[in-house]
Amino acid sequence: MNYNKKTVRDVDVRGKKVLLRCDFNVPQDKATGAITSDKRIVAALPTIRYLLENGAAVIACSHLGKPKGPDPKLTLEPVARRLSELLGQEVLFAHDVVGEDARAKAAALRPGQLLLLENTRFEPGETKNDPALAKALADLAEVYVSDAFGAVHRAHASTAGVAAYLPAVSGFLIEKELAFLGGAIADPKRPLVAILGGAKVSSKIGVINNLLEIADTVIIGGGMSYTFSAALGGQVGDSLLESDWLDYSRQMVEKAKDKGVELLLPVDTVCADVFAPDARSQVVPAGQIPEGWQGLDIGPETVKRYCAAVADAGTVIWNGPMGVFEFPAFAKGTQAVAEALSRTGAITIIGGGDSAAAVEQLGFADKMTHISTGGGASLEFLEGKELPGVACLLDK
Ligand code: 3PG
Repeated sequence: MNYNKKTVRDVDVRGKKVLLRCDFNVPQDKATGAITSDKRIVAALPTIRYLLENGAAVIACSHLGKPKGPDPKLTLEPVARRLSELLGQEVLFAHDVVGEDARAKAAALRPGQLLLLENTRFEPGETKNDPALAKALADLAEVYVSDAFGAVHRAHASTAGVAAYLPAVSGFLIEKELAFLGGAIADPKRPLVAILGGAKVSSKIGVINNLLEIADTVIIGGGMSYTFSAALGGQVGDSLLESDWLDYSRQMVEKAKDKGVELLLPVDTVCADVFAPDARSQVVPAGQIPEGWQGLDIGPETVKRYCAAVADAGTVIWNGPMGVFEFPAFAKGTQAVAEALSRTGAITIIGGGDSAAAVEQLGFADKMTHISTGGGASLEFLEGKELPGVACLLDK
């Protein structure tokens, strides 16, 4: 895939109406609806400021959650308010996506003004990538800018379809994500070490497969390591196990050998008698987890080996925690790896989702070279898949 895309710097936006797709899919408090993290809104500010300062009239849009139609709980109005506080200027809000309100407010919008449309998923055509909706969105503006990295793996009307009707370029967030993630994959400083964790092999199949093509070392931790362990004949007790993926795990071990990639699997495990923060725990050799016990973290010897691999790396890509880091007693592996990443001289790239949350929760966020804002999007990127929201943008 070509990651060298035109950006806002490559088009003249002065006096133009610009449709800006952001990823304002922010976490909200279930009871009150309050935004619990504005990170994604903050991440969009450089592009918004640039467009406003360069004389564009900006029509921003985004999805929020997975509504089946208009749903007052998933209105983007709170995002408009937060955006206005962060920018220090008024943010107009349209109560529909391409209806009368949106069309009237977009038509009246002046250079330097910002309008936010209602949740794009309130329109049934959004997730179907309906050309009629894409065209109606395009009709609001003269240029399309996408900065919604978190949603570039979705071929929806506002993330991809609309680009068929307008000159389409990226904002600064997508540019940065492509530079770091794309750089790490296309031309990494070696050795390239990929650390893969998280609960399930099944959710990382493509990532493991693709990174075995690219990386010098692949490190496996987290819940999915027990499926690897079982595939190699180990006893995993009551640990998470995906029996449908045993063959696949064995194939990946073979693939690593064929490719000359160093594949590191845990050598010891912290296991617990129940899945609970205050469970009794013990350290056992990997593959020797007693009946009735379950692995919840990598053990101390594994930590040493993984941290040593990180210390000598040129680039580290990390996706997925090493254990149940939400329970302090089983967060040591994830914490140690995060700490090792914060100390290494390597370029450190954190895939979005759980690993980003772990790095932030453990206080290492500012020590990483790049933390992706995309969960699913960064995973598909690491799988080497074509991302519709990137492919639709103009090449440089
Ligand atoms: C995300 O939060 O990963 C993106 O905003 C995509 O959201 P979706 O999974 O609802 O498409």
